[in-house]
Amino acid sequence: MKLVCPNCKKEYEVDERRIPATAKVARCKFCDHRFPLPRRDEAAAVPAGPRRIGVMLSKGGVGKTTTSVNLAAGLACGGYRVLLVDTDTQGQDSFALGVKPQAGLTEMIMGELAPEEAMIRARERLWLLAGGKALAGLKRLIDRKDFGGELTLAEGLAKVEQRFDFVIIDTSPGWDPITVNVLFYVKEVLTPVSLEAMSLQGLVEFLKSLASIQRYRKDIRLRYILPTFLDRRVARSEEILAKLRKLYSDKVCTPIRYNVRLSEAPAHGQTIYEYAPGSNGAQDYRELVRKVSGNDKLFR
Ligand SMILES: Nc1ncnc2c1ncn2[C@@H]1O[C@H](COP(=O)(O)OP(=O)(O)O)[C@@H](O)[C@H]1O
Ligand SMILES: [Mg+2]
Repeated sequence: MKLVCPNCKKEYEVDERRIPATAKVARCKFCDHRFPLPRRDEAAAVPAGPRRIGVMLSKGGVGKTTTSVNLAAGLACGGYRVLLVDTDTQGQDSFALGVKPQAGLTEMIMGELAPEEAMIRARERLWLLAGGKALAGLKRLIDRKDFGGELTLAEGLAKVEQRFDFVIIDTSPGWDPITVNVLFYVKEVLTPVSLEAMSLQGLVEFLKSLASIQRYRKDIRLRYILPTFLDRRVARSEEILAKLRKLYSDKVCTPIRYNVRLSEAPAHGQTIYEYAPGSNGAQDYRELVRKVSGNDKLFR
């Protein structure tokens, strides 16, 4: 660590390990000036690693895949390096991005392929670790472990995560060994809640399961609740939205409106920004990207 005396500007190269943990002040041997030492944790700042976000709810058809793909792609458009991980056996993320990966998450975690071979570059700054049927093999691998099975995903992703600013994980509906693995990896959970149906019940149940994991893993939190399929013509939609805001206040993001363009885009292998950049869907997902990145100036 380099220290500079603020009085005489004399520079010292100091071995940090030799500074006693309690020392707060240094003395310049040259001019005898005493000055405060920088805080050690600042000096030895280890890169914090990527933001790790799981897009999760046990219910299907609420917009998890749509959100994962368009959040990841939006962040990449905004200049961030993003890894999208598909942990669903349906493997829809690659379809939605119009790429045909030969391999993906399973092959990387099982050590059959190097990360460079398993990840596919889907767009500029956006990489995908595909899901799909092969995940059955990963589930078996997790099941076979006597202990530590829940950390399989975390250990596998540790090899690549430092290259990214965000790791976004799309998940399958239901609750299986891979869902548990996701909860032992991510630090933030984004939960899409469809305003169309009776999905509040689904949210309450999911939050119970999340709480059971939080007992073992303190550094995971529900960070965003994303209302989806908002249709202002449907009174029920507004009702559920009001209820969500009352119960979860600041966690509730600006809703994603019902937008037919969002349902058409995957069949074209395009993100919403490519398929219909002027649509409500694109506007709403850009707003989500601003919220999650904390960068309010993006795309303005
Ligand atoms: N805001 C929206 N408006 C209209 N259709 C949507 C919207 N969000 C998602 N969809 C469509 O609804 C279906 C379910 O969404 P999807 O993202 O696959 O949900 P999940 O991954 O939770 O099962 C898909 O066909 C998708 O294209
Ligand atoms: Mg899905």
